[in-house]
Amino acid sequence: MKKIISVVGARPNFMKMAPLHKELLKHKNKVLHKIVHTGQHYDKQLSEVFFKQLGLPKPHINLGVGSGSHAEQTAETMVKFEKVVLKEKPDLVLVYGDINSTLAATIVCAKILQNGKPIPVAHIEAGLRSFDRNMPEEINRIVTDSLANYLFVPEADGMTNLYNSGIESRRIFFVGNIMIDSLIGYLPKAKKSRILKELCISKKNYALVTLHRPSNVDSKSNFLNILSIFKHINKLNTDVDIVFPVHPRTIKMIEKFNLYKELDKVKNLTLSEPIGYIDFLALTANSKFVITDSGGIQEETSFLNIPCLTLRENTERPITIKHGSNILCGSNENKIVNEMKKILNGNAKNRRKLKLYDGQTAQRIVKIIFDKILSGKI
Ligand code: UD1
Repeated sequence: MKKIISVVGARPNFMKMAPLHKELLKHKNKVLHKIVHTGQHYDKQLSEVFFKQLGLPKPHINLGVGSGSHAEQTAETMVKFEKVVLKEKPDLVLVYGDINSTLAATIVCAKILQNGKPIPVAHIEAGLRSFDRNMPEEINRIVTDSLANYLFVPEADGMTNLYNSGIESRRIFFVGNIMIDSLIGYLPKAKKSRILKELCISKKNYALVTLHRPSNVDSKSNFLNILSIFKHINKLNTDVDIVFPVHPRTIKMIEKFNLYKELDKVKNLTLSEPIGYIDFLALTANSKFVITDSGGIQEETSFLNIPCLTLRENTERPITIKHGSNILCGSNENKIVNEMKKILNGNAKNRRKLKLYDGQTAQRIVKIIFDKILSGKI
């Protein structure tokens, strides 16, 4: 029996692991899949709710790392995960995305020798680059990709980025977007969600907002600029609601900068706690448009053909710009207002075909794991 350990830590990791967990369960006579949760996200709404809704078992091991500076979070994960690896002796470790937990687990495996070789790591969602080293996630991507043994890539540009960094092609696999596997799987459930009723909003008559990047929310003036965009929505169409589920980091900043009064001035604004996976999917699918700084939401809106205005200067997911419904707006207020006008006038950008956004990514990855990795062919 082979043993695979998945390391997850924060909200976007859970949707990437769920389809793989299900696919690996089909082979439970050959492989044991254990889940290690680092505890980077510990709030119920950011973690437990996702495990429940995605049909995942409770993590086999929870490292309970929690918050801290980047160094503290990474170091504590490394110290605790090293003990797990030494005890469990996995045949393969799967890491996901670009969070601090991903980086920490990868470094640990690269430095532990088992039978004279490092513990093999496969990186799910490899190859993405924003080329912006001010983002902590970009550092995590670069280090993880350079140390991981196998790289599972979601979009074509990711392949180019990895070839350009000199990684051998036999270790790189273009498998598609695994988060879309989850989306396709849970869309029928999302159609039955009651979240629109609960929030008293109607289909295609609200903008959905998510913000948590330090560049947007950790600076008061940048945050105030975003609130002025909300007021523009009021001006352009007094009818359109704004729904804003607030990330814990963002709440802290609203409190620190004393922004509740400013938020009160925005009409038709509903603030809520972070929302679980299925209800959030329902909110995205039924929205008029989305304003976000998230990575995954750029992909989900593109798949669903929902106009998405991304408040970042760059994206590591260029397919969503080239072929999807995503538009990079940075903090350019004029651009954002113009794009909102187009959307409200019925002239939104439409998505084209998105390669390997087909719900079969987990299947492709598991086939490679069995045929090539666990069999020792590469
Ligand atoms: C992390 C990831 C980011 C991902 C995001 C999704 C890194 C570097 N960043 O960002 O890539 O897009 O998750 O949400 O790994 N907090 C809570 N409760 C929680 C979790 C966090 O209150 O359950 C607070 C922390 O105390 C901290 C802040 O939120 O002040 C940020 O948390 P952290 O895990 O450092 O990064 P995120 O901003 O969530």
